[in-house]
Amino acid sequence: MITREAIDAMGPWAHCVHLGNGLYTIPPEQWDEHVGALSYQHFIASTLPSLLSRLLPGSASETSVVDMGCMDGWCSLLMWKLGYRCIAGVDVDEENIARARFLSKHLGCEGVEFHVAALEKLRLPKPMDIGLMLGVLNHTAQPVELLRAARSMICDFLVLDLNIFVDRAASGLACQNSYLYDPTLQSNIALNFEKGGPFRHDSARNLVMQYDPQSVLMLLQYCGFHNIMEIPMPLATPSWMIPIRRMYVAFKNPNSSGHIDSLVLREAYTQSPHNYLSSEMDLPYLGKAMGEDE
Ligand SMILES: C[S@@+](CC[C@H](N)C(=O)[O-])C[C@H]1O[C@@H](n2cnc3c(N)ncnc32)[C@H](O)[C@@H]1O
Repeated sequence: MITREAIDAMGPWAHCVHLGNGLYTIPPEQWDEHVGALSYQHFIASTLPSLLSRLLPGSASETSVVDMGCMDGWCSLLMWKLGYRCIAGVDVDEENIARARFLSKHLGCEGVEFHVAALEKLRLPKPMDIGLMLGVLNHTAQPVELLRAARSMICDFLVLDLNIFVDRAASGLACQNSYLYDPTLQSNIALNFEKGGPFRHDSARNLVMQYDPQSVLMLLQYCGFHNIMEIPMPLATPSWMIPIRRMYVAFKNPNSSGHIDSLVLREAYTQSPHNYLSSEMDLPYLGKAMGEDE
């Protein structure tokens, strides 16, 4: 049986995953310190299921997924929990992949394959149906290479999630993601250093790239994606997250029939059993998603 000591020995943990018997990667007494990461996980866990179920023609079990920059694999394992059965998680940092394999083993998701690799150099045996690239683009100095590699790895579409940079004055935020910029310009990219940042192997090292929404669209188009949709935030997204987070779906092929009506999507979010309207920080949900039996 897994122990607190065994979990701690694999740390430090950046995401909260329940491993059963009330044992979490990040123990509950530390959740206050990790509130940003926890609400981000909640945002993804609340958004992805309804988004994917509306975009995918087939069932989850027939759809293959590559989780690019998976870190400790929490989202690959969430996909397993959601019924996906062909999942590859990829990260350039071997310690992250060791954590991902540790979680996968203890949660009994051994069908999820984890690879240590730089996405730009990775050759998967065959392309996967869909790709997730969550929270990665801000941490690479080669966004074009990364997105082109992502495009070559998938058949259908990429879900891209990133921090964007926002007008500090308009958002009322004073966090690292907010800058003073001129929103009338066509596109903006800002750079800032994240001192002592945790991503040791990223090509950007501790440099963080912040794109405004328009520059993300241009970048995706430049890298060959089509039919790019900016996904509206769920109605009850935590207020601090609305100005700094964006999710896009970008299709590989111009003739893709994929589209989603934003009104349908909003309805999906509000009808989802785990939506923000029921609770803004429903932490136990993470446990349910990641390990507890229903
Ligand atoms: C901010 S974390 C995001 C983790 C996870 N996707 C999530 O959303 O919670 C970024 C991850 O991308 C990985 N990464 C960055 N550049 C990469 C690259 N070129 N190839 C593979 N992994 C990369 C880092 O090692 C890090 O684990």
